[in-house]
Amino acid sequence: MSLILGIETSCDETAGAVVEDGLWVRSNVIASQHELHERFAGVVPEVASRAHLERLGPVLQEALRIATTPIDRIDAVAIGHRPGLIGSLMIGLGGAKTIAWSLGKPLIGINHIHAHLYAASLKSEEQVGQSKDSIDDGKKANDAKCEPQNKQLPVANLSSLFTLRPSVTYPALGLVVSGGHSNLYELKSPTDLTLLGRTIDDAVGEAFDKAAVILKLGYPGGPALDKLAQSGNPDAHQLPRSLLAKESLDFSFSGLKTALLYTVRGKPRVRGKRASFERSADDLSDSQRADLAASFQAAAIETLILKIKRAWDMLLAAGRQPRCLIIGGGVSANSLLRQRAMELGEHRSIEVHLPAFDYCLDNAAMIAGLAHHHFIEGRFDNLELPAVATSE
Ligand code: KG4
Ligand code: ZN
Repeated sequence: MSLILGIETSCDETAGAVVEDGLWVRSNVIASQHELHERFAGVVPEVASRAHLERLGPVLQEALRIATTPIDRIDAVAIGHRPGLIGSLMIGLGGAKTIAWSLGKPLIGINHIHAHLYAASLKSEEQVGQSKDSIDDGKKANDAKCEPQNKQLPVANLSSLFTLRPSVTYPALGLVVSGGHSNLYELKSPTDLTLLGRTIDDAVGEAFDKAAVILKLGYPGGPALDKLAQSGNPDAHQLPRSLLAKESLDFSFSGLKTALLYTVRGKPRVRGKRASFERSADDLSDSQRADLAASFQAAAIETLILKIKRAWDMLLAAGRQPRCLIIGGGVSANSLLRQRAMELGEHRSIEVHLPAFDYCLDNAAMIAGLAHHHFIEGRFDNLELPAVATSE
């Protein structure tokens, strides 16, 4: 058995969680900073670091309290130490090192992107009903401070997209779709990943956020655009699906973003260093805005699905037999992606694993969960563990 305290501070969420045996989420506490960054329509690194510093202690105390786990009962401290904003990573890492050192417990550094792919393996009481005896009423997997992403989501019948599925098996094809990454991986195990493709410009979450800025939908953009797209016509505008070269497993979303910009505002007229547009997003009616959101979302999600199919077929052609598809990262909360991924699974008899909504966005449960596999393999880090801005 393992009881691991996970810490996540890579961007604008301060998160702490306690996970048992890499599966059972005993607590999952997330202090979001959206209110601090909203007026800048993006994360301000210095503001994020300061907020992590103020919030980390209370968040970890709350995570241990909800898990009814005295701090000296934990077996290891896991920290998402890459990739991310360097100042933000350093706050969490400093906290993790301090706890590990003072308790004499192992420190485990986790790659945040790999952890997103582990999120689909996590089980909370919400998912499993009453089937885990060791989580009694007082130990409920709880997200008292958690952003209720699931409640914001616009899908009429979420339960149909969120049914209990069998455990993840390997080898697997993995897709991480977040604010900073669109990565395809082949996974031999939770800790053995080979990168197959990545974005060459904007990540898909970043493209959603920028599209939301173009359409003036507020911050954070992805969920707002997803919600608005529900009432729009996805065929109203034909926006590009960039697949790059025939065998490429890389992604490119900047062309889609620019196509949306020109559709909304017209082609720019450049005079000297200044560009002016024919129209403004303020000129759009509500239904025009919804059609643009739906058309953008359809293009972005179809691109992801086409790349998944391409990667799956390439793995099969190479004689490697993926047993399932795993999707993770903030954009895995997107209602259309969840729907299309499940349809793909049905059509092609592929087992598809999506995280529960609370584990789509940044959280520490995925960090603690993946760390269990490092723990049983005896893969520990020392106090020299660095914060690293990049992923691989
Ligand atoms: O994984 P995440 O929480 O943070 C990073 O590691 O980047 O992902 C955040 C990204 C943001 O770009 C956000 O707009 C996007 O996930 N996102 C969504 C949705 N919910 C969050 N994008 C599309 N549809 C959503 N429902
Ligand atoms: Zn993330």
